[in-house]
Amino acid sequence: MAGMVAAVIRNIVILTGAGISAESGVPTFRGPDGLWEGHRVEDVATPQAFRRDPVLVQRFYDARRAALVHVEPNPAHLALARLDREWTGDLLIVTQNVDDLHDRAAEPGHGRPARLVHMHGELKSALCGRCGATQPWDGDLTGADPCGCGGTLRPDIVWFGEMPYHMDRIDAAIAGCDLFVSIGTSGAVYPAAGFVDAARHAGARTLEINLEPSAGTQLFDEARHGPAGRLVPEWVDALLGG
Ligand code: OAD
Repeated sequence: MAGMVAAVIRNIVILTGAGISAESGVPTFRGPDGLWEGHRVEDVATPQAFRRDPVLVQRFYDARRAALVHVEPNPAHLALARLDREWTGDLLIVTQNVDDLHDRAAEPGHGRPARLVHMHGELKSALCGRCGATQPWDGDLTGADPCGCGGTLRPDIVWFGEMPYHMDRIDAAIAGCDLFVSIGTSGAVYPAAGFVDAARHAGARTLEINLEPSAGTQLFDEARHGPAGRLVPEWVDALLGG
């Protein structure tokens, strides 16, 4: 039976959230450790917050960027990187995460994974608030020189009220997918939380892999609850027939 299901799956969309990076040591947003120096994420992740207190917001993201050197991809990131290498059908990994763990899980020397999009931006990128140019960024943005156009550099992060990246590509991939898998996300933030609905309308099978039932767990055909570091490699192994 499992073989029959696998045989009809060609096109896959995978949505990942903070839960896939939790076992690497990156704090989730809404867990008990999801506060930063007493601030709720919503209080630092808005354009209004940046206008009100740019130093606080830059420091918040500087701290998260600096923390990336202490974390490594875990077995869930590595399993999805393997799926990207070996899956011959269409695949799009859509991450809400701004860390670089999916990118680093790809084999060294292979460059950025082509089938991965960061819909909420990336810590290791800086965005000019005036001209919209982006550039790779490793250190702190606090005190950084302005962009060549004179604009202030800000984290290349999609804040609340801003438009997520790559939506055309994501919508097209979901419309054509046979299987939609949501991994490590609470289902609290739209539009990502609505992808499962769009996938169902497209006729796709839907699978949730999360530590606990998400807000939209009842929308999934199947839900597997437990740590992504164990469940994702198991799922990928089964899918690839290994
Ligand atoms: P959340 O912190 O809201 O949810 C993380 C989910 O991961 C929860 O449902 C946890 O139960 C689950 N989880 C925790 N540890 C896990 C593990 N080891 N294995 C599997 N699941 C685990 O994070 P997101 O849903 O990603 O937006 O949050 C969505 C967006 O809200 C973020 O991208 C961010 C935030 O505001 C922006 O920065 C724009």
